[in-house]
Amino acid sequence: MATHRSITRILRSLPNTSRNACSQHHHHNYHRASWLHAEAFAKRYSSNTATVVAAAASPSNEQTTSSSSSSAGSTGGSNSSIISKQLKTTSDLPLKTYNVTKADARPKLSEHHKITFDEKKTLVPWEEGKTSHFQHIWMRDHCQCSECFHPETKQRILNTFTIPKNIQPDKVEAEEKGMKIKWKNDGHKSFYTWEWLHLHSYNPRLERYISPQFKFWGSEIAERPPEVEYEAVMESDAGVGEWTRKIRKYGFCYVKGVPVTPEATKELIQRISHIKHTHYGGFWDFTSDLSKKDTAYTTLALGVHTDTTYFSDPAGLQLFHLLSHTEGSGGQSILVDGFRAAKILREEDPTAYRVLSNVRIPSHSSGNHDSSIQPFAPFPVFNHHPVNGELIMVRWNNDDRTTMDRWDDPADVERFYEATRAWNDVLNRRESEYREQLVPGRPLIFDNWRVLHGRAAFDGKRRLCGAYISRDDFMSRFVISNSKREDVLKAL
Ligand SMILES: [Fe+2]
Ligand SMILES: [Zn+2]
Repeated sequence: MATHRSITRILRSLPNTSRNACSQHHHHNYHRASWLHAEAFAKRYSSNTATVVAAAASPSNEQTTSSSSSSAGSTGGSNSSIISKQLKTTSDLPLKTYNVTKADARPKLSEHHKITFDEKKTLVPWEEGKTSHFQHIWMRDHCQCSECFHPETKQRILNTFTIPKNIQPDKVEAEEKGMKIKWKNDGHKSFYTWEWLHLHSYNPRLERYISPQFKFWGSEIAERPPEVEYEAVMESDAGVGEWTRKIRKYGFCYVKGVPVTPEATKELIQRISHIKHTHYGGFWDFTSDLSKKDTAYTTLALGVHTDTTYFSDPAGLQLFHLLSHTEGSGGQSILVDGFRAAKILREEDPTAYRVLSNVRIPSHSSGNHDSSIQPFAPFPVFNHHPVNGELIMVRWNNDDRTTMDRWDDPADVERFYEATRAWNDVLNRRESEYREQLVPGRPLIFDNWRVLHGRAAFDGKRRLCGAYISRDDFMSRFVISNSKREDVLKAL
């Protein structure tokens, strides 16, 4: 079981938390810029966000501390297109991942200095030599008592807007476990543990963000692909913890010893979470017959891609279980570690990397006659966390790309095709591809935000079943099955 600190790390490694990665307040401009830009770029394909960082693909193999990724090299064109502007500015961004495990990161109050407060804020001096500044309005709003903050649901009960603008403490006291504040206006008493104060100190930030520990792989993973036992997953949450941990670390995992039926497969995937329904249905079970109007349902070869690039929120996990393959052969599965491929592209061709982080690609799914699915906005191939700058999602399906008819600069068209050519080249290298024949009883599950999949052509009849799980549901299960719930809640 994870300790509070390690769960904090896990939580902070989650890209979709709203926590920021900064420890210094001079980074605040960066945040502001990020969010403003995020709104501004919504209407264009060439995004204008300042957040598309060189960072990306940063976590190096097996490291706890991801290296601060250096800015990705030289700039491209010299004209004023969005892309080239981007190329000039992104290297200024502060990056980003720090190690928490320093001796100075402990929630211990200084023995030599006292807590003080003035009109605006309370100052909490820590033993490590740093002093946290907490503004009164923020402190009152974050009161942890059971009248203000529901102890079970962890939701705010306090009406924030009843707090007087110039709220002042009457008294601030250090107690053994934390700090007590008695407020002047109504005599309300708030209490905050040292641990909580240290964890949430924002000026300066003390807890540091840790990158997820990904293990990147190429074709060599074929020798020892990650795998868990069906029994373990079905019998205990610890088994699910191991499963989700491997999926998170490698981007995919097999389960062995699964009964060769759709029913057992469905139960298996539901050990992680409920199934994500789409316009193709929920749990699917099909033979290659083109009953659904999508190449996936044919016998053709499929280049590596991620699924559902046409969703605003692409499927998080996908599971495939080959139930049978008769009267033919072929159909090897191909997996490519998209984060590793992105890292390689960034090293070999930083310009291509930036182009694919900036150019927004419209996509759709319209084969079914009753639907035409499109995301609320087009997204680039490489999607970075808006606060910490890390690569969080690769979206790539060249077949589902629609007409790209919005360019700030015609030269961007050529840059885009050069970049996709370089990307396609990295993806299709022998050493990028992990090929394996799926077999009945051994379903494959993979992280569709990271790992690209494809398959060789085949003949005969294949029966395959599977399902999607949304990324939020997967991450929730990953965190909860690998830590104590109370520790997860403590870090909220
Ligand atoms: Fe697919
Ligand atoms: Zn309270």
